[in-house]
Amino acid sequence: MRFDIVTLFPEIFSGYLTQSLLSKAIDASLVEIVVHDLRQWSTDPRHHKIDDRPFGGGPGMLICVEPVINCVEEIQRQSSEPGQVIMLTPQGDRLSQELVENLSTHRRLILLCGRYEGFDQRVIDILQPMELSIGDYVLNGGEVAAMVVVDSTIRMLPGVLGDESSSLEDSFSRGNRILEFPQYTRPREYRGLSVPEVLLNGNHEAIAAWRAKQCQSRTADRRSDLLDKHSGS
Ligand code: ADE
Repeated sequence: MRFDIVTLFPEIFSGYLTQSLLSKAIDASLVEIVVHDLRQWSTDPRHHKIDDRPFGGGPGMLICVEPVINCVEEIQRQSSEPGQVIMLTPQGDRLSQELVENLSTHRRLILLCGRYEGFDQRVIDILQPMELSIGDYVLNGGEVAAMVVVDSTIRMLPGVLGDESSSLEDSFSRGNRILEFPQYTRPREYRGLSVPEVLLNGNHEAIAAWRAKQCQSRTADRRSDLLDKHSGS
């Protein structure tokens, strides 16, 4: 799967791209990430300016339409298969695990990271991106949100997590649309807190039943909205 990330701050991604799971997936050619510096698409060769004041007045600056369109069209030309364009914005649909699963079926995603007051509306009118928000709060730019999209999506790709782990039992995942059960490892007792007996006796049916009950009660306590949403599914 290929991700093209369009940003004014490409350096933000360098640490993230070399972190373990992602860099292993890149090394194994399961994932390719190409970061594009939007400033290189500036129509102002001297100052590499890509933003301007909004018509009608108001605070802040907007990212101009021309550099974004030129950059995305060049990215699209690099493959015969068009990439799904995604704009990271607090105005977008809220990212969910279901959406992440859907994104992971695409072979190419093009992620547009906004800054300042956002993009000229014509970027949206022309590219008709999928607009995505990672939550009801405002970030300083779309870069962190783009990392969230990449991070959550690559977990879904076969081979990325390795044989020993699976995303199926994660909270919100296809196998479990509610919260995950609590987990324990050694030691069996710490500061008077013991591992639940049922996990120690090797009775797999009893363990599965205990875990299912924990998922239900934890979700009922913390996120009853998820039970309402997924009852009957
Ligand atoms: N850019 C700024 N805030 C954002 C958010 N909440 N989600 C996605 N992109 C954003």
